[in-house]
Amino acid sequence: MVDVILGLQWGDEGKGKIVDFFARHYDLIARFQGGPNAGHTLYIDGQKVVLHQIPSGVFHNKAVNLIGNGVVLDAVTLKKEYDIVSSFGVDLRKNLFISERTHLILPTHRALDRAAELSKGNQKIGSTLKGIAPTYMDKTGRNGIRVGDLLDKNFTTAYIKLRLKHQKLLDNFGFTEDIGAWEEEFFEAAEFLRRMNIVNGEYFINEHISSGKKVLAEGAQGSMLDIDFGTFPYVTSSNTISAGVCSGLGVAPQKIRSVIGVTKAYCTRVGGGPFPTELDNATGEELRRVGNEYGATTGRPRRCGWIDLVALRFACMINGVTGIVMTKVDVLDGFGELEVCTKYRVNGKDTTDVPYQMERLKPEPVYKKFPGWNQPTSEMKDYSDLPEKMKSYIGFISDYLGIGISHISNGPGREQILGVN
Ligand code: GDP
Ligand code: IMO
Ligand code: MG
Repeated sequence: MVDVILGLQWGDEGKGKIVDFFARHYDLIARFQGGPNAGHTLYIDGQKVVLHQIPSGVFHNKAVNLIGNGVVLDAVTLKKEYDIVSSFGVDLRKNLFISERTHLILPTHRALDRAAELSKGNQKIGSTLKGIAPTYMDKTGRNGIRVGDLLDKNFTTAYIKLRLKHQKLLDNFGFTEDIGAWEEEFFEAAEFLRRMNIVNGEYFINEHISSGKKVLAEGAQGSMLDIDFGTFPYVTSSNTISAGVCSGLGVAPQKIRSVIGVTKAYCTRVGGGPFPTELDNATGEELRRVGNEYGATTGRPRRCGWIDLVALRFACMINGVTGIVMTKVDVLDGFGELEVCTKYRVNGKDTTDVPYQMERLKPEPVYKKFPGWNQPTSEMKDYSDLPEKMKSYIGFISDYLGIGISHISNGPGREQILGVN
C-alpha cells in the first residue's frame, strides 16, 4: 500500500515538512522524481535542514528511505547532504537505499543547463541550474549513465564518451567556463556513492508492499511544473503528478491508496512563466516578507499571489487527490482582506478550466473576497481554536474543490500542524 504526498501548485508548498510529519506512520519513504532542484525544508530539534536529494522521512529512524529510479541524482549534493543528516545521528548506511536505475547528473549536465539558459535570453525558464533538463534529456535520448553503472568496470569509458558528446554541445553554445573543479568533486562523490546501498528499487519497494509495509511516496516540485500538464515550457522535466509514482518507483497504480495534495493558503512561484494570480504590488511583497518566500535551493525571491482555485482544481483532477493539507495559513494572519481566484477570464469569457496555452492567453483572475481574521494563529494547537473567519476561508476552498482538508499547518515548526475535525 502506497500513499503519496505531492505539491499542487508551483512547488515549495511545504511538502518536506508534511512528509516529515506523516513519516512516523510509514516503513518506507521514497522520492520518485526530480533531483537537487528540490529544496525541502524541515526543522529538526529546532534546527533548519534543507533536503535536496534525500527523502524527508530520514529523521525517523524506524523507516527506511529510497531514492527511486525516476529521480536524477547529483552525487556531489548527496555527499554533502549525507554529512549534514549524519550529524543528527542518523545512520544513512542503514536507512538510505538508491535504485540502480536512477540517472546520474554529470558536471557537463550542469554546464549544459547553464549554457541553455544563457542562450534563451529573456525567455529563460529560470531553471535551478542543477542540470535537471539535460539529465532527463539524456535519459529519454537513451544516452544517460545510471547509478548501477558505477559498479561496472566500463564506467569511466562511458563517462568519457558522454562527456565528449556534451563538449560538442557546449562548444555549440560557446560555453567556455572551466568545469575541472566540478569534475574532481564528481569523481570523489562517485566513489562515495559506489559504497552506498545500491539496490534494485522496484523489487525493493514491491517486497515492502507485499509484506504489508506502508510506503509513502514524496513528490518534488509541484503539479503546475509537471512536464505534461504544467505551464509548458516553464516547467521542470519530470512527471511531478501522482502518475509519476508508478513510473518513478515501479509501483502498479492499484497499489496507490491515497494522494495527499499540499497547497499553501496563498500561492508562489519561482522562476519564469505564467502565474495568473501573481501580485506585483505591495500585497505581493508583504506575502513574500511574512511568508519568508525565498527559494530553499537558489535563494531567489519567490513570486507571490493569491490562491488560485482554477489551477488547484485542475491539479486535484490530474492527481486524483483524496485529501488536502493546507500550509502557511499563519502567513495570512495580518491581512485585512483576502482574495481567492474562482474563475479565469480568457478573451472576455469566464472559465473554470486551465487553458492549454496560459502564456499566450494570459488568463485574468476573477476573485472572491474574504475578510481577514487579523489575529495571530501560529501558537494555536487545536482546530477549534482557529478564528471563524479562517475556518470560512478554508471551508470555501474545500467546498470549491470538493475535497476535504485534513490538516492545517500554522508555522514552519515540526509540531505546528492541526488536524481538521
Ligand atoms: P517544499 O519544497 O514543498 O518542501 O517547501 P520549501 O521547504 O521549499 O518551502 C516551504 C517554506 O515554508 C519553508 O521555509 C518552510 O519552513 C516553511 N513552512 C512550511 N510550512 C509552514 C507554515 O505552515 N507556516 C509558515 N510560516 N512557514 C511554513
Ligand atoms: P520543490 O521540490 C519550486 C522550477 C524552477 C524553474 C523550473 C525548471 O522544492 O518544490 P529545473 O531546475 O527543474 O529545470 O527548473 O522549475 N523549480 C522549482 N520551483 N520548487 C521546486 O522544488 C522547484 N524545482 C524546480 O524555478 O522555474
Ligand atoms: Mg522547495
